[in-house]
Amino acid sequence: MSSVNIGILISGGGTNLQSIIDNIKNGNIKGEIKIVISNRKDAYGLIRAERSGIKALYIDRKEFNTEKEYNEKIMEEFEKRNIELVVLAGYLKVLSRGFVEKYKGRIINIHPSLIPSFCGKGCYGEKVHQMVLDYGVKVTGATVHFVDEGTDTGPIILQRAVEVKDKDTVNTLKERVLAVEHELLPEAVKLFCENRLTIEGRKVIIK
Ligand code: GRF
Repeated sequence: MSSVNIGILISGGGTNLQSIIDNIKNGNIKGEIKIVISNRKDAYGLIRAERSGIKALYIDRKEFNTEKEYNEKIMEEFEKRNIELVVLAGYLKVLSRGFVEKYKGRIINIHPSLIPSFCGKGCYGEKVHQMVLDYGVKVTGATVHFVDEGTDTGPIILQRAVEVKDKDTVNTLKERVLAVEHELLPEAVKLFCENRLTIEGRKVIIK
């Protein structure tokens, strides 16, 4: 089975990126990260990529007039490298319609809750865990899904539950969920690279 060319978009620390790097290094994922692109110059994930010999690129949104042009620049970088799978690993910008159309069925996102709870516009990062605590749910978790035109609305690939404890803070809950994310995202990437995911309407069938 040939290796899948992967392009990864980040905005922050890159611990999910690191979990994919590690799973490629240990042979668990039959893929190769060709480029990591960040919309934030200070994203530590760029350093993680460089340390692993992966092309790391900061693309400054201010250099472009529109979101459309910004996304076209990212697509240009991906096309140069024949990217076959796009992974959003803590990427905080919404993709353009053109981007989603071009890569439909080949964009994977990780979200730190059990979608459809605690997701959607403006619901990302630590805000998710604050909403979980404020609501008082007993169970939260992580979701890996394909990206469609909506926000956190694409077909779900994998989910795993995480217990919410009485004395949890945003930080303790975030860490517990992150540990699950670091297993779930590489697993989904592995399944994609092994061509074991089939989208049937809203369902993702794992062969
Ligand atoms: C993760 O919690 C992920 O679920 C969310 O953003 C965070 C990214 O963390 N989308 P990192 O940059 O991968 O460490």
